[in-house]
Amino acid sequence: MDDYFASDPIRDLDFSTRSVRSGSDRTSFGEHGEAMFLTSSFVFRNAAEAAARFGNQEPGYVYSRFTNPTVRQFERRLASLEEGEACIATASGMSAIMTTALALLKAGDHMVCASAVFGSTYQLFGMLSRFGVRCSFVPLSDLAAWEAAIEPATRLFYVETPSNPLTELADLAGLALISKPRGIHLVVDNCFCTPALQKPLLHGADIVIHSATKYIDGQGRVLGGAIVGQRSFLHDQVLPLMRTTGPSLSAFNAWVLLKGLETLQIRMDQQSANAFEVAQYLVQHRAVARVYYPGLTSHPQHELAKAQQGGFGAVVSFELRGEDDSMLRQRAWSIIDATRLISITGNLGDTKSTITHPASTTHGRLSPQARLDAGIGEGLIRLAVGLESARDICTDLARGLDGMGQ
Ligand SMILES: Cc1ncc(COP(=O)(O)O)c(C=O)c1O
Repeated sequence: MDDYFASDPIRDLDFSTRSVRSGSDRTSFGEHGEAMFLTSSFVFRNAAEAAARFGNQEPGYVYSRFTNPTVRQFERRLASLEEGEACIATASGMSAIMTTALALLKAGDHMVCASAVFGSTYQLFGMLSRFGVRCSFVPLSDLAAWEAAIEPATRLFYVETPSNPLTELADLAGLALISKPRGIHLVVDNCFCTPALQKPLLHGADIVIHSATKYIDGQGRVLGGAIVGQRSFLHDQVLPLMRTTGPSLSAFNAWVLLKGLETLQIRMDQQSANAFEVAQYLVQHRAVARVYYPGLTSHPQHELAKAQQGGFGAVVSFELRGEDDSMLRQRAWSIIDATRLISITGNLGDTKSTITHPASTTHGRLSPQARLDAGIGEGLIRLAVGLESARDICTDLARGLDGMGQ
C-alpha cells in the first residue's frame, strides 16, 4: 500500500498543467485519455498473491470498495491541485464529511462548527450526539467565539468558506492560530472556491473536504466527494474506514470528475466573472435589499476574500425587500418561478445557472431558530452563476424582479 499515496512527480509545474496531467497513469496500451476501470474486483496470479494484497504486505489493487485505478487517478490529481500530500475520494460530499468525522472523533469528544454551513452538514453534526459526540455552533467569522467554544475535549473545527448560501468567509489563518497549538484539527469544506480559487492547506487547514458534485464535476452529472490531507491521516485513519464502511466513489464517477478537473480553472474564472456582473446588477435593483457576494466592495470581508482567495466564486445570494415572512417567501418564489433560463434546482457548481430558495429547500430541514442563527431568511435567494452570458442571466432575473414593488 506504500505507493498508494505516491506523490505527484510534476508537483513543481503550474496549476493548469497539473489540472490536465497529474495522476495520469497509462496502462500498457498507451491510451491518451485516462482509462476507466469498471471492475468491482481485481484478480491475482495465485492464492499467495491474494493473501499478500489483502494483508497489505504487497501493493496492488484488490477490490473497488477501497482501491481502483481510475479513482486513484482522480485522487492523485486533486491532492496535487489542493497542495495536499494525499486524497481519498468518496461517493458524495456528505460521505466525505461523515468519514472525516468518524476518523477524527470518538464518544466523549467535542467539536466546533460554524453555524453557517450546508443544511445536511448541520444535521449530520447534530446526529453525532447519538454517538456521544457534542457539537457547538458558533458564528463563522467571529474568531473570539471559536476560541471561547473550546473545551478540553474539543478535537475538531469545521468550516465552509465562503459559506453556503451567504458567502461569509472564515479567516483560515486566524482559525489555524487558535486550533493548531491545541491539537485541534481544522477541517475546511472548499466546495465554493475549489483549489482553482483557494487552497486552505496553505492557510493552515489540516484537512480539505470536497463535494466534487459541485464545481469539480462542473456540469451537474455525478455525485462525488473527497478528503485531502496528510498521507498518514488518510492511510491510517481514513482508508481502513473506507474499506470497512464503503462510502466509495465509483470508477465511472471518478472518471467524470477527473475530466472535470481539466477545465476547473477556466470554468471558475469565467463563472466568477459572470457572477460579479450579476451581483452588480442586483445591487442596483430597487426590489433587492442586500446582495451577498465577496467580490463586492460592500461585502464586509471583501479584503479578506482578496487576500485568501484567488477569485470570488460564482455563488451570489440576495435578499428581497419586504415586510413579513409570508410576503417575502411569496416574493422569492415568484422571482424563481418567473425565470425561463435559470434552472430551479438545489444543486450548484454547474455550467448552467441554478436558483433556489434556501429557507424552503437546502436549509429547509433546519429549525426556524437554526435558520435564524445562520442568517437565512424567507426573502433570500441563492443563485449559482453558470457559463451563460451574464446579460441573459440578468434578463431572466428581471422577469420577476422588475414587476416587484419596494
Ligand atoms: C458546501 C457543501 N458541502 C457539502 C455538500 C454535500 O455534498 P454532496 O451533495 O455531494 O453530498 C454540499 C451540497 O450541496 C455543499 O453545498
